[in-house]
Amino acid sequence: MNIQFTLNGKLRTAEVEANTKLADLLRELGCASVKIGCNEGACGSCAVNVDGRLINSCLTYAGQVNGRTVETVEAIGSLDHPHPIQDALVEEGAIQCGYCMPGVILAAKALFDKNPSPTEEELAVALDGQLCRCTGYQKIESALRKLASEARS
Ligand code: FES
Ligand code: FES
Repeated sequence: MNIQFTLNGKLRTAEVEANTKLADLLRELGCASVKIGCNEGACGSCAVNVDGRLINSCLTYAGQVNGRTVETVEAIGSLDHPHPIQDALVEEGAIQCGYCMPGVILAAKALFDKNPSPTEEELAVALDGQLCRCTGYQKIESALRKLASEARS
């Protein structure tokens, strides 16, 4: 089937099979930030935002994004101009191997876009599906708590 969707602000078309996973298609299209970890919806490393909502792209067929808007971390900040979420994570020293970070950043962005000053509980719920094997989560949570608190003050 032929699909058309907006990926990181650009209209893209692709010929896909009915069982092509969105994660595979996005990687073919150059989005190396989309990591395939567990491939069964348990780790969040393949997370992307579809129409502003976080989904696991390993559990989503490419055909399901036909006509929709997909955002990966490639569209969020840059080395020269990081997104405030990226700045906060770096300043807090919250990144080790970085494998989980695209999913963490997208999960945080989906939350902060709707609610710039989330509570600790809302942050915990938003990060619930993001597995990090390195950090113990404390610095990630601390970075995002600081960002939320800055938005409140
Ligand atoms: S690779 Fe998709 S949730 Fe783990
Ligand atoms: S920083 Fe390594 S998995 Fe999170």
